[in-house]
Amino acid sequence: MKRKLSTAKCTLITAFLLLLLLTAACGAPAAAPPASPPAEQPADAEPAGDSGEPDGPSALPEKLIVATNAEFPPFEFITEQGGGALGEYDGVDIMLVQALAAELGLEVEISNMDFDAIIPAIVSGKANIGIAGMTVTEERLTNVDFSVPYWVAVQSIIVPSGSDIAGVDDLQGKKVGIITGFTGDIALSAIGGIDLQHYKKGVDAVMDLNNGRIDAVVIDSPTAHKLIAGFADLSAIDDDPAFELESYAICVAKGNEEFVAKINEALQKLIDDGAIEAFAAEVDARL
Ligand code: ARG
Repeated sequence: MKRKLSTAKCTLITAFLLLLLLTAACGAPAAAPPASPPAEQPADAEPAGDSGEPDGPSALPEKLIVATNAEFPPFEFITEQGGGALGEYDGVDIMLVQALAAELGLEVEISNMDFDAIIPAIVSGKANIGIAGMTVTEERLTNVDFSVPYWVAVQSIIVPSGSDIAGVDDLQGKKVGIITGFTGDIALSAIGGIDLQHYKKGVDAVMDLNNGRIDAVVIDSPTAHKLIAGFADLSAIDDDPAFELESYAICVAKGNEEFVAKINEALQKLIDDGAIEAFAAEVDARL
């Protein structure tokens, strides 16, 4: 576990630079001041980059059974009239897992479930890979292994216009919508003194906020901006220093180091060649 944590730390800077590119690409506000663009790595652009080492027969599953919760635009959502990247499913993660599967030579099957069912599905083997804009946390690392991070986000506070809430400190005693099991839930539960209102879907929390039933919603920033897009009276506060940067990664069952290595190799390629950034732009155009 120690090794994985430090791997995650090493890649954080790359992921953070990626965020700057991605947020620029999808129009979401940057979580930090502008920085220089990431260094290009043209050497990695060669098509056949395999080191040629043989794989153990059990390194890869027969197909990728993907646990997700398709209620989290722009990462995964269900398209109303179909026409998504994979049947009714669309989003950056859906495109990412398809590209990953293509790299690994595997088929993809999406298994949509509640967010808090994803890790149990991985642990029990009902699914062999989880991708859901999932933040790497110490607690989750006790149950699953994570890939290298591919995105960095922060929590946003969504408020109605004219709200007296300007940051986390103003949430004391307020009715705040959070989504059960999300990192926003974990962060606000740790603070205490906030009247937490639990929802299963971000969209339902935002509806209640718009109807005046709650005072604020806390959810990941890229999703916050997608969810408020149709509501003229809602805005998002993205820069409260009380919230730490979060890295999204893919989770798998513990203990299959070869599978993680294969995923990381393919994922790193997609990060380095700008594919994830391109997926974000494509999804943005469809949303
Ligand atoms: N990043 C947050 C977390 O890991 C929220 C992820 C929600 N993802 C979803 N597909 N519903 O807790």
